[in-house]
Amino acid sequence: MDFKVADMSLAEVGHKKIRWAESRMPVLMRLRELHSRTKPLAGMRISGSLHVTKETAVLVKTLVAAGAEVAWSGCNPLSTQDDVAAALAADGIPVFAWHGMSKDEFYWAIDRTLDLKPTLTLDDGCDLIFRVHSTAPELAGGILGGTEETTTGVHRLRALAKAGKLLYPVIAVNDAETKWDFDNVYGTGQSSLDGILRATSVLFAGKTIVVAGYGRCGSGCARRAQGQGANVIVTEIKPTAALKAMLDGYRVMPMDEAASLGDIFITATGMKDVIVGRHFESMKDGAIVCNTGHYDCELRIPDLEAQASSVMEIRPNCEEFVLPDGRRIYLLARGRLVNLAAAEGHPSEVMDMSFANQFMAMLYLREHGSTLSHEVYTVSEEQDQEIAGVKLETMGAHLDQLTPDQIAYRDSYEEGT
Ligand code: ADE
Repeated sequence: MDFKVADMSLAEVGHKKIRWAESRMPVLMRLRELHSRTKPLAGMRISGSLHVTKETAVLVKTLVAAGAEVAWSGCNPLSTQDDVAAALAADGIPVFAWHGMSKDEFYWAIDRTLDLKPTLTLDDGCDLIFRVHSTAPELAGGILGGTEETTTGVHRLRALAKAGKLLYPVIAVNDAETKWDFDNVYGTGQSSLDGILRATSVLFAGKTIVVAGYGRCGSGCARRAQGQGANVIVTEIKPTAALKAMLDGYRVMPMDEAASLGDIFITATGMKDVIVGRHFESMKDGAIVCNTGHYDCELRIPDLEAQASSVMEIRPNCEEFVLPDGRRIYLLARGRLVNLAAAEGHPSEVMDMSFANQFMAMLYLREHGSTLSHEVYTVSEEQDQEIAGVKLETMGAHLDQLTPDQIAYRDSYEEGT
């Protein structure tokens, strides 16, 4: 079997991490148990490009248990957990991923997963699908469909579909309520702060934290930072999002004003050039800057490099840039997703729902992919409710049920005052 990982001697540690994640992912494990008997994905070849973490390993093993042949790469050069990659390789999965890959190696790894000649693709950020479209379009005819995990990837896919260039149907897993309203909020909130803490070990209480972007990810970061006693400033471009931030109790202002006030900056916008040279120039001595969006373009790092008179890695995932006037600015994880590069990504409990959606979307595409148009689809309301229902059950929570009389009331227009 072909694979490329950093160090196979890490496999045992990786196996323990995966086992731990399995104990926290009851919805996905239930799907594994159910479908390992009937093997509904038999005959499917799945190429995946998604952060190689312990949670992703649980998804990969579930796809294999359901009968699929799988090849995997990471979807970010700094997010691979080398021990997990080694464990997957030891289990016979062709995995091509290691922490600290170069850009060329990153695309080389994606290309190796395409050697499988997939019938299904699974993406986080759209790099794999885009690679099929740009360098291997001849594969598209054999692909029943694909899935996309993240907001940024869904934006890219919608642009591709709008241009009439999407070559096969894709399900936007990100847009499932049991994904974006949980993973993006609670997952990003906790894991981003976790990344900042592991890279810096600073005190949050009393700090001014600037969160750029008040979508689900930004709002999660803001809420968790406030919970730690920080004063939160939000920067936004969208009036309704800015209004929500105001009513949630945060100050809202442009980055040009916030730059000189913040102690810690977190970008969560999905947009490029959110913090650029003039912002670095006005920051306080000691300011910490990081990004939790999918791509590393939110911070214009070349500007900071050009301004600095010296740079050194002062702690793992934390570089100190000294400016000519002596001020120090600390950049975390080279502007890559701080939660995955400096910590372990979202906790298993929340990835449980995101990956249950991925798994069920794969089953759906296997069954219906050939009848779908080349568009971006969302998951069904039934899938969302089913996953939420099972998750609740595994958490020991129970729901009320409407009585027949209440159902009649809900469905009628006659009863008023
Ligand atoms: N994205 C964010 N957190 C993740 C995790 N733990 N595993 C895979 N993808 C992720």
